[in-house]
Amino acid sequence: MTVPQHDVIVIGSGAAGLTAALELAQQHRVLVLAKGNLHGGSTAWAQGGIAAVLDAGDTFENHIRDTMVAGAGLNDIATVEFVIERAPAAIDRLVELGVPFNTDGPDLHLTREGGHSHRRIVHVDDATGWAVQEALVRAAEANPNITLLPGRSCIDFITGRHAEKFSADGRVWGVYALDQESGKVEKHLARATVLAAGGAGRVYQFSTAPRGATGDGIAMSWRAGARVSNMEMMQFHPTCLYNLEVKNFLITEAVRGEGGHLLHPETGHRFMVDYDAERMELAPRDVVARAIDDQIKRFGLDYVHLDISHKPAEFVREHFPTIYDKLIGLGIDMTTQPIPVVPAQHYTCGGVKVDLDARTDLPGLWAAGECTESGLHGANRLASNSLLECFVFGEAAGRDILAHWGELPEPPAIRDWDASRVTDSDEEVVIKQNWTEIRRFMWNYVGIVRTTKRLERAAHRIQLLSREVEDYYGSFRVTTDLIELRNLLQSAELIVRSALKRHESRGLHYTMDYPETLPVAQDTVLVP
Ligand code: FAD
Ligand code: SIN
Repeated sequence: MTVPQHDVIVIGSGAAGLTAALELAQQHRVLVLAKGNLHGGSTAWAQGGIAAVLDAGDTFENHIRDTMVAGAGLNDIATVEFVIERAPAAIDRLVELGVPFNTDGPDLHLTREGGHSHRRIVHVDDATGWAVQEALVRAAEANPNITLLPGRSCIDFITGRHAEKFSADGRVWGVYALDQESGKVEKHLARATVLAAGGAGRVYQFSTAPRGATGDGIAMSWRAGARVSNMEMMQFHPTCLYNLEVKNFLITEAVRGEGGHLLHPETGHRFMVDYDAERMELAPRDVVARAIDDQIKRFGLDYVHLDISHKPAEFVREHFPTIYDKLIGLGIDMTTQPIPVVPAQHYTCGGVKVDLDARTDLPGLWAAGECTESGLHGANRLASNSLLECFVFGEAAGRDILAHWGELPEPPAIRDWDASRVTDSDEEVVIKQNWTEIRRFMWNYVGIVRTTKRLERAAHRIQLLSREVEDYYGSFRVTTDLIELRNLLQSAELIVRSALKRHESRGLHYTMDYPETLPVAQDTVLVP
C-alpha cells in the first residue's frame, strides 16, 4: 500500500524528530511517523531539564570540561563544542515555542545535577520533558507543511534492494511501516529520511525508558548498512524508585543536586564518602551507580535510601511536585522519609554514527537524538545533555537537507511489502518468552559490572535466540511486538559485541577482567 508522497520522512515524534520536522517544514512537506502516540518516546518523561550556559559566572569551557570529564575522554571535542555553544540559542527557541521554564526574577531558574560544576539546568519543575513535548507537538500540529502519523511501527528502510529495478545502491528512499491499527504494511517514500527513533533501554529488565525504547532505529540502520558505535556505553541512572508495583519511576538527579543524600538503609551511613569523597552524591552517574550497585551486592540489600527530608518541606514540595505527588500516592512522604532507590538502565550513549550535519553512512538518511552516536557523550553522558543534543542535531539535520535539497534524487519505483508467504502467528507466547529472556540476561550478564565470561554467556544466548526469532519473523505476519523483539535482539547483539571488543574499563563500561583505563580513548565502531 502506498501513501501520498512527502518530501521528507521523519521517524520519531520526540525532541529530535519534531525539531527536525519544524526546521524542514519551512520549505518542504514533512511526514512524521511515530510508534504508538505522539508523546510515547523518552522526551515526555524527562524530569531534570536541559543543560545550557546561561549564568554570567559560568562559561562554555566549564560545560565542555564537565562533559569531557563525565565522558571519560571518549567524547569528540569538535562535537562537544558544537553542541554546547548552540545550547543558549536552543533554549531561546523553546521559549519562543512557549515552553514555560521556571524563572528566577528576570532570568531562567537553573538547577544543578551530578557532574556539573555550575548550576546550568533549565527546567519546568520536575517535569521538563512533558512541557517540551507538548510545545513541540503543538507547533507541529499548527504547521500546514507537517503531517503527523502516529500508530506506525517502522520495520525497515527502503533502499535499492526494494526497487522494482534492483540495485545494490545503499541510498535510503523511505521506510516500510506497519499501520498498528489495520495491520497493513505501508510504504512511505521520500527524497530524504531523518531517523529520530530514540534509544534501546528496554533491552534491560530494569529501565527508566518507555515501553517503545527497543532500539528500532539502531537495528534498522545496522541492517541497512550503517555503522554503529560505542553500544557498550549503556547508562544506568543511580536513582530509580524501588517499588514492587511501580517499576520504572525515575527520581531525578536534581534531588541530589538540591542536597539529597544517599544512605545505607540500615546504618544510615552516607556511603558516597567511601567512593568519591570530593564529589559525593554529585559525582558522574557511572560512579554513583557503581557505588550503589556495590552497596546492594556487598550488604545483600534490595535498595539504598535517597534522603532529602533535612530540607524544608515547602522547598521539597515546590521543587519536586511530580515526584512528591507520585510518592505520596505510594505512601512515601519525601519531606519526612527517605526514598528507596536502585539503579536502572536510563540512556543509550552509543548508536548510529553521525557527523556534525547529522549525516549517517547511508546517502538519503540523517539521524538525530538518542538513536545516534555523535561524539557528544563519549563513555558516559553528562546529565541533561541529551535533550540538548536532540535540539542541536535535529536542527542540523534539517539545515543540511535544506542546503542540499537540489542534489537529492527522486525515489525510483519501489516494490510493495510482500506478505504473501507469511501467516498469522499461532504462538504469540514465543515473543513474550524471548522478550523476557533477553531483558533478564542483559541485566544479569551485561549490566553495571561486567566480566568476559558473562558477556560470552550473553553472546551465546543471543546466537541461539537469533535463529529462533529470524525463523519466526520469516514465517509470520509482522506485529509491533515481533518488530520490537527482532530489534531488541539486534540491539542486544550490538551491545555485547561492542562490550567484548573493549579491553579496558572506561566510563560506563566496567569489566573486572580489564579494570584499567587505556592511555588512548578509542570508539568501538562496528561495521556491518
Ligand atoms: P524519543 O523522545 O525517545 O522519541 C522516539 C520517537 O521514535 C518516538 O516518537 C517513538 O514513537 C518513535 N519510534 C521508535 N521506534 C519507532 C518505530 N519503529 N517506528 C516509528 N516510530 C518509532 N535527558 C535530558 O537531557 N534531561 C532530562 O531531564 C532527562 N530525563 C530523563 C528522564 C527519563 C525517565 C528518561 C527515560 C530519559 C531522560 N532523559 C533526559 C533522556 C532524554 O529524555 C532522551 O534521551 C530524549 O528525550 C530522546 O529524544 P529522542 O527524540 O531522541 O527520542
Ligand atoms: C534526571 O532528571 O535525573 C535525568 C536527567 C538526565 O537523564 O539527563
